[in-house]
Amino acid sequence: MNSEIKESFEKTRVAGSIASGALDEVAKLIKPGITTHKIDALCYEFINDHGAYSAPLFYRGFPKSCCTSVNHIVCHGIPSDKVLEEGDILNVDVTAFKNGWHGDTSRMFEVGNVSIKAKKLVKTTYEAMMNAIKILKEDVHLGDIGSTIQQHVEANGFSVVQDFCGHGIGETFHKEPNVLHYGKKGTGEKLKVGMIFTIEPMINLGKYETKVLNDGWTAVTKDKTLSAQFEHTVGITKDGYEIFTLSKKIS
Ligand code: MF3
Ligand code: CO
Ligand code: CO
Repeated sequence: MNSEIKESFEKTRVAGSIASGALDEVAKLIKPGITTHKIDALCYEFINDHGAYSAPLFYRGFPKSCCTSVNHIVCHGIPSDKVLEEGDILNVDVTAFKNGWHGDTSRMFEVGNVSIKAKKLVKTTYEAMMNAIKILKEDVHLGDIGSTIQQHVEANGFSVVQDFCGHGIGETFHKEPNVLHYGKKGTGEKLKVGMIFTIEPMINLGKYETKVLNDGWTAVTKDKTLSAQFEHTVGITKDGYEIFTLSKKIS
């Protein structure tokens, strides 16, 4: 790896570990009765305390430091005074910006006991992301990523959201390429050593269609069924890949 790539990996590693560290703290907070605003306040503080900025705050007018997407919210849920209830599932999506570089990651959290269906949706979404990460190396096609995710999701009877995708990331929050979570093997751009991007499949229990609410951000499933998402920031190396946003606690 040349020194430019080494430096970009090192900076993404730092930003990525702050983002995943924030989620490790969020995990301790989740219980019935807390508000999504409380999650946002924790993310804001944790990220600032680590000398970084929350990239979502004021990004294209987004008003908060993280996204909290509960139940049928697909992504970009805005933290509010909404109270979490037993049985809810939610995604918390955090992006840290430090020394000019971004690290972007999200996880699902279960509030108390959740239904078996919800658990299966969350597990399948995580597996789909990890299956796709495991195939990463130079010369793999972008379409191989999408196809790996789609196959696993549809084999479990769920559907892949098509309206949002993963993205290149670095000094810019969202850049090329678009990383689709569905597609055909052997199609699309080939991965090159040094590329840094996110994989962040959004998976619906019902149909894949989404719509954006009047706040201009909150994306929900059209059929109001549950949706789940996980996200990691990854980089392509000589022998495969590096995940920049692993939890120090779990994966
Ligand atoms: N973190 C989200 C992503 O994975 C983007 C959030 S943009 C925001 O790309 F403005 F909604 F925060
Ligand atoms: Co992202
Ligand atoms: Co994100």
